[in-house]
Amino acid sequence: WVAISGLFVLGYFSGTIPFGLLLTRLFGLGDLRSIGSGNIGATNALRTGNKLLAALTLVGDVLKGTVPVLIGWQFGELPAAAAGLGAFLGHLFPVWLGFKGGKGVATYIGILLGFAPIGVAVFAVVWLGMAAIFRYSSLAALAATLVVPIAYLALGNQPAALLTGLLTLIVYVKHRPNIERLLKGTEGKIGAKG
Ligand code: G3P
Repeated sequence: WVAISGLFVLGYFSGTIPFGLLLTRLFGLGDLRSIGSGNIGATNALRTGNKLLAALTLVGDVLKGTVPVLIGWQFGELPAAAAGLGAFLGHLFPVWLGFKGGKGVATYIGILLGFAPIGVAVFAVVWLGMAAIFRYSSLAALAATLVVPIAYLALGNQPAALLTGLLTLIVYVKHRPNIERLLKGTEGKIGAKG
């Protein structure tokens, strides 16, 4: 339990690093929370029009999930899962930002990468396919995160299915405003400035 709770806390603080916010400021583009959807993730960073900023945000938010999970694996599967859950919650509820964080999609990918990397391939195929057809980042993420736990289940990896099933549930809750916009037809398309 010491390893599990320790890794959860380590994951949490790793997850709280708001790469999108920090990098946008570093690029001299202001506060990401007052741009586009107001979210601090890579999708919204792209709305600044700066692709490098969006790419770096994506990489940072992915790795802050992967690194704690890989450290967790040194202690076993449960500590690795706890580190992943911690990182995810850290991104969503960062203590530094009054617990108002992001939506967790990039960090979700990072956790897959560290926990059971085949999930990244599944995620990528679904996300890229959906994004190519519909041009909505949120819709692509909702589809990809729905398929990932099912794919793990089909592949017989129950721990990964359980962990990602929980994360997917939280992703959906966090995407409620996006879902409402998608239904109303007012969701911003990928790369469109807002
Ligand atoms: O990855 C987050 C994405 O699904 C939605 O981001 O900025 O359009 O709310 P955003």
